[in-house]
Amino acid sequence: MNYIGIILGITVIIIAYFTLWPLIKGAPWVPTRMKKVRQMLSVIDIQSDEIIYDLGCGDGRFIVSAVRKFNAKAIGIEINLLLYLWCQLLITFLGLRRRVKIRYGNFFKLDLSDADVVICYLLQETNDKLEDKLLKELKPTARVISNSFLFNKLPVVNEDEDTGIYIYRVR
Ligand SMILES: C[S@@+](CC[C@H](N)C(=O)[O-])C[C@H]1O[C@@H](n2cnc3c(N)ncnc32)[C@H](O)[C@@H]1O
Repeated sequence: MNYIGIILGITVIIIAYFTLWPLIKGAPWVPTRMKKVRQMLSVIDIQSDEIIYDLGCGDGRFIVSAVRKFNAKAIGIEINLLLYLWCQLLITFLGLRRRVKIRYGNFFKLDLSDADVVICYLLQETNDKLEDKLLKELKPTARVISNSFLFNKLPVVNEDEDTGIYIYRVR
C-alpha cells in the first residue's frame, strides 16, 4: 500500500476542508491588520456592555479587542473548526469567557437580533446575500461596520474609500 499517497490525500482533503469550506460559505480567512482593527473599533463608538458580533471571527482579534478596550460583550461566529477552537483557547487563556462567546457554525443560520454592533470582513457577494438578514433581524439602533466591502441597502453612516471602512445603520 502506498502510505505516502494516502497521507498526501488526507492532507489535501484536510486543507481543502479548512480553506474551501469557509470560502464557499462566505469568505476565506484573511485577518484584518491590527492597526485597522483598532481604527474600526474606534470609529464605531462602542458603549460598555453593548453586544458586538463578528461574523466570521477568524482568530478572535476583533472580539478580544472590543471586550478589552470598551468593556463590551462579544459574540464571534466561526465556521472554520480550527479557528473556532483557537478562539475558545484564547478567551479561556485571557480570562474573557464571561464576556465573550464563540459560536461554531454558519452565521447565515444564527439569530443576530441581540447585536448592537455587527462587524464584517467577508466578500462583496457575501455582504449582498447577508444584508436582507441584517435588515430583518437587527434592532433599529444597531450599527454595522464592514472592512473593504459595501452594503447597498443598509442606510449609510459613512463610507470611506480611502480606509476601506464602511459604516451603516439599520433604520
Ligand atoms: C476575511 S476573514 C475575517 C476574520 C476576522 N473577522 C478579521 O477581520 O480578522 C473571514 C472569516 O469568516 C469565516 N467565515 C466565512 N464564512 C462564514 C460563515 N458562513 N459563517 C461563519 N464564519 C464564516 C472564515 O472562516 C474566516 O475566518
